[in-house]
Amino acid sequence: MKVLVTGGAGYIGSHTCLELLGAGYEIIVVDNLCNSREESMKRVQEITGKKLIFHKIDLLDEQGLDNIFKESSIDAVIHFAGLKAVGESVAMPLHYYHNNVTGSLNLCAAMLKYGVTKLVFSSSATVYGDPHTVPITEDFPVSPTNPYGRSKLMVEEICRDLYAADSSWSIALLRYFNPVGAHQSGRIGEDPNDIPNNLFPFISQVAVGRRAELAVFGDDYPTYDGTGVRDYIHVLDLAIGHLKALERLDEHSGTHIYNLGTGRGYSVLEIVKAFEKASGKQVRYQIAPRRPGDIATCYADPAKAGQELNWSAKIELKQMCDDAWRWQSNNPKGYI
Ligand code: NAD
Ligand code: UFG
Repeated sequence: MKVLVTGGAGYIGSHTCLELLGAGYEIIVVDNLCNSREESMKRVQEITGKKLIFHKIDLLDEQGLDNIFKESSIDAVIHFAGLKAVGESVAMPLHYYHNNVTGSLNLCAAMLKYGVTKLVFSSSATVYGDPHTVPITEDFPVSPTNPYGRSKLMVEEICRDLYAADSSWSIALLRYFNPVGAHQSGRIGEDPNDIPNNLFPFISQVAVGRRAELAVFGDDYPTYDGTGVRDYIHVLDLAIGHLKALERLDEHSGTHIYNLGTGRGYSVLEIVKAFEKASGKQVRYQIAPRRPGDIATCYADPAKAGQELNWSAKIELKQMCDDAWRWQSNNPKGYI
């Protein structure tokens, strides 16, 4: 089976490529490298001892995309390509809608033209906004609070409309919680440009000495220690979720939403402690004001993915920290 992976050079994409190659899939990656490096693809091939095909193409380049579909008989698409920084999306909404929504439209149009109707899409728990309670099930109301989240919801809706118009489409909308960690080899991992927005890469960079201290955004949330609680999921568990979704699409048309999370939440301070233990380094921090738009608590009810995909997250927090640290300490400047 030949799978087109958009955004495959990125953090989650590269780990998913690794699992796909391991499971015997043929892969074509398209990525414009706006937030990644081709080195990740070299390392995926080095780890697996298998080849993939890489094309530096932007999803906004319709002709480039068309050529890929024309020259290779693609069976299914996993669509990771997108911009993901919440704050940047507030500052540059049109850029985010253009990249994430128009890019997805171009991809779906090419799929339609070439009769490819199996799609796995990277959505996000951010579509739930501030949930009225936890854990979050897939039928919770959606109300994203920023352009990034709305771009994800728009693409989900485009997917639903595609299926309504043509029932041969099989689409999995995967709502990820908080992906962290890295492959155990320490050769691939998360390599954010500039100052990390997310907790795990920021903590890693403090531990490795690249940043002085972590700002803990708020200690007055209604959580047991006052800091925000999230559902951190190891990126390899997440990657396997994509393979399970792909398998299911073979036999089930429709649009199917799945939460991919562990079902348990950890606070910021618990993560700091766990990371200190894994790294043997002190993670200096200071309590700072709440970050605008943040919510107190967010974790998944992943039961639907358990029942329908036969998938559940297996990797514990300790290994998430061990693996994130191995990647960070072996590659203090990322892929450079
Ligand atoms: P990432 O930035 O590492 O990977 C995204 C990849 O897409 C990058 O390699 C980037 O170069 C590429 N890309 C972006 N726009 C493109 C375009 N127009 N054409 C071609 N390539 C393009 O991010 P990630 O963490 O691996 O996230 C993958 C997907 O999962 C994204 O869609 C993201 O929104 C979604 N997601 C991520 C998280 C998270 O916390 N990491 C959570 C929920 C959802
Ligand atoms: N946090 C800090 N300091 C930091 C960074 C984060 O205290 O420097 C805190 C946040 O306030 C929050 C927790 O750590 O309580 C996690 O924050 P992240 O930025 O790592 O993750 P978010 O839950 O805010 O959002 C992430 C992605 C979104 C995605 C969402 C899915 O950034 O794109 O997970 O749940 F949609």
